[in-house]
Amino acid sequence: PDGQLQDTLARPLHDLRISVTDRCNFRCVYCMPKAVFDKDYQYLPHQDLLSFEEIHRLASIFVAHGVNKIRLTGGEPLLRKNIEKLIALLAGLRTPDGKQLDLTLTTNGSLLARKAQSLKDAGLTRVSVSLDALNDNVFRHMNDVDFSVSEVLEGIAVAEKVGLGPVKVNMVVKAGVNDQEIVPMARYFQRNGQILRFIEYMDVGASNGWQMEEVIPSAEIIRRIQAAGMPLTPIEANYKSETAKRWRHTDGGAELGLISSVTQAFCSDCTRARLSTEGKLYTCLFATRGHDLRALLRASDQHSDLAITNVIAGIWRKRDDRYSELRSQQTGADSGTGKETGSTTRKKIEMSYIGG
Ligand code: GTP
Ligand code: 5AD
Ligand code: SF4
Ligand code: SF4
Repeated sequence: PDGQLQDTLARPLHDLRISVTDRCNFRCVYCMPKAVFDKDYQYLPHQDLLSFEEIHRLASIFVAHGVNKIRLTGGEPLLRKNIEKLIALLAGLRTPDGKQLDLTLTTNGSLLARKAQSLKDAGLTRVSVSLDALNDNVFRHMNDVDFSVSEVLEGIAVAEKVGLGPVKVNMVVKAGVNDQEIVPMARYFQRNGQILRFIEYMDVGASNGWQMEEVIPSAEIIRRIQAAGMPLTPIEANYKSETAKRWRHTDGGAELGLISSVTQAFCSDCTRARLSTEGKLYTCLFATRGHDLRALLRASDQHSDLAITNVIAGIWRKRDDRYSELRSQQTGADSGTGKETGSTTRKKIEMSYIGG
């Protein structure tokens, strides 16, 4: 296959984010609010999930197309039974020039202390852990299942101890809910040495009732951290399509990052494809529909790898998504009125289904 695969905006395909379950043991207010994800919520039945063999087969085709980084997401990926087996399969993949993949995972940290060693042994390279507050009351309110901060911190510590570090810690900032945690989080992770990333709260999905006034712009986050006596120096990106703008604590300690998908959209460099739990390919986090690859895998006339390769290439070549940039153009003019609710009229997929 063609290593030079590019979409209509000349963006190559480098990252594959695979959602391995639509379930989560947290009920974060901005992602899986209890009012929607209650006991009657219909999760995907097991036979609809891609099997590990199916995921491995698709992943190897994506790798042949230029993917060099695979991230497992959910829901909560560590809830998928025997996830270590999938990791071991994916760790065996090599890029066309013989390199190992960057193989990582985004977790809420709840099962990390228990699983870090087996994940490392299976071949995982690193982990990113979501943590929205250090204050226990704030965190328990946000995850809405009364999970404590200390258990997540323990998970992070064990992950580093077994060699899955440096851990990246992702904090979604929601105005009036956890923005008072910005400075304490920055201070704690400066001392502790993890890479903290602040994420602007996005209008993903349809259940979180997003409003522009709930977003704290990254520029404001930087201002608050510096005002609290932690000077910051901007540093170079690691690679072109990096989501986060990187900064270093001028006084020493770790770096931190800002993911500004609302106020400084980064679609023009977006090299990410997403594979849903049931095998649909999405070319944007905000796509309204996916392309059913599972149907090809399971068709009775057994599609060959070459046929699937060509279908994926065709989808990528037609890709023109740049949702966040378009949203900025739309909301930029009248931002601050608090009335604009983005394009919530679009029927977007849920974050818990596609995994961030
Ligand atoms: P690294 O490989 O460590 O650089 O991670 P990453 O930033 O690619 O991935 P991660 O899963 O840690 O992303 C953190 C958050 O950034 C996600 O939870 C999303 O909120 C946001 N994000 C990641 N990719 C995209 C994207 O393609 N578009 C938008 N709008 N947001 C994204
Ligand atoms: N905006 C930004 N990030 C979000 N995440 C979930 N919902 C949102 C949102 N509305 C992030 C989580 C986690 C990952 C799974 O996605 O914090 O890091
Ligand atoms: Fe929270 Fe992540 Fe679970 Fe969503 S998938 S409810 S953000 S822990
Ligand atoms: Fe990529 Fe879509 Fe996110 Fe833009 S909004 S960075 S195109 S996933």
